Amino acid sequence: MKALEGIRVLDLTHAHAGPICTLYMAAMGAEVIKIEPAWGDRTRMFPPLVKGTSPYFVFLNRCKKGVTLDLKDPRGNEMFRKMVKKSDVVMENFSAGTMDRLGLGWETLHELNPGIIFASISGFGQTGPWSDRRSFDPIAQAASGYMWVMKDAIDPEGPPLMAQEAIADTIPGFTCLIGILAALNHRNRTGRGQRIDVAQMDSMIGVMQSFSFWNLVNNTFRGAATSGGVRVSGLHKAEDGYVMFSLPAGRITDWFQELLGVEELTPDMVTKWVAERTVDEVVEQLAKTGVPVAPVQDLDQTLANEHARAREMFVKVDHPVLGETTLPGFAIKFSETKGHISTPAPLLGQHNEEVYSELLGLSKEEVEGLRKAGVI
Ligand SMILES: CC(C)(COP(=O)(O)OP(=O)(O)OC[C@H]1O[C@@H](n2cnc3c(N)ncnc32)[C@H](O)[C@@H]1OP(=O)(O)O)[C@@H](O)C(=O)NCCC(=O)NCCS
Repeated sequence: MKALEGIRVLDLTHAHAGPICTLYMAAMGAEVIKIEPAWGDRTRMFPPLVKGTSPYFVFLNRCKKGVTLDLKDPRGNEMFRKMVKKSDVVMENFSAGTMDRLGLGWETLHELNPGIIFASISGFGQTGPWSDRRSFDPIAQAASGYMWVMKDAIDPEGPPLMAQEAIADTIPGFTCLIGILAALNHRNRTGRGQRIDVAQMDSMIGVMQSFSFWNLVNNTFRGAATSGGVRVSGLHKAEDGYVMFSLPAGRITDWFQELLGVEELTPDMVTKWVAERTVDEVVEQLAKTGVPVAPVQDLDQTLANEHARAREMFVKVDHPVLGETTLPGFAIKFSETKGHISTPAPLLGQHNEEVYSELLGLSKEEVEGLRKAGVI
């Protein structure tokens, strides 16, 4: 039994922000039906391709069923409407207004199924002066102030800087996930579905402490942290690599001072102490002392890391085209309803027959007819 078992999601998402949200739902047991146009989600072609398959797509779309459906074709559109009646969540991240143009806006979906939860991620939301603008991760990083905060932390005189790993897709994806889970809880109590409108820009603003520091003390989070409570923290160079540790005022700094046998730490003292030791020696001694510390690992080191492995943070996925590949595991550790994230991402239209026969009662011949007609 998994936490979201019995929940069916019609997943129209593409790129990153939407698929990361439905990936987590699928890992928690929801039946996620990824609906793609005949040309497929754009990330299927994200280079470099390995045997015609994108590492991007295989990461984000695990544990989902894959069907093709032309929503602009009246037959395809009708099939989608029928599936809405049998589903719990519709999720999309097209540019705002796209679902209305498809005749599949909130009013329609709600009328078809009053219990449906209809969640959208867009760059700037469904309302407001910028709502009709398209967006990707860098656009939201720029608009939210995040790129400015990055450069302010690293080189205040330099150009704006972008964080990596599609942070302004993932944070909106997880923001939307929280909204969907709350809406499912509300629906369980009332029977009523609802519309969820998540913007990438809002999601980034919503998690940035710097706005509070800026308005109250005219500083960023990083600026306040380095000038105030936290001392000689950060990156240090050891003999054979880098270590990161944090020394907030209080007992953690006291422990570090005891270790060094000094009453007061100076940055030079810390730099010298680290420089005379290997990364392993520094990490071992500081961890034993209670100081928050980690080696700065490259991807090979993290992949081989005993702790990440003990926490099952890398899983083997047996992909029909790629064979066995290693991907990040599921980061929520449930005591009762263990997550599962190692079913491979679907090939384009892989589950057409299964889904359309189970959900819409179509025969094999009917499914084949729809394929020939280009509806699926
Ligand atoms: C990512 C983005 C910039 C891509 O822009 P785009 O390629 O022009 O795609 P859009 O979302 O604007 O439009 C998709 C089109 O495909 C069509 N489409 C999508 N799925 C379809 C299907 N199954 N059948 C038929 N048509 C389909 C839509 O109807 C729409 O057509 P239209 O423009 O004629 O209305 C845009 O989708 C966007 O801003 N999304 C919101 C923010 C976001 O999530 N960004 C990605 C972060 S990783």
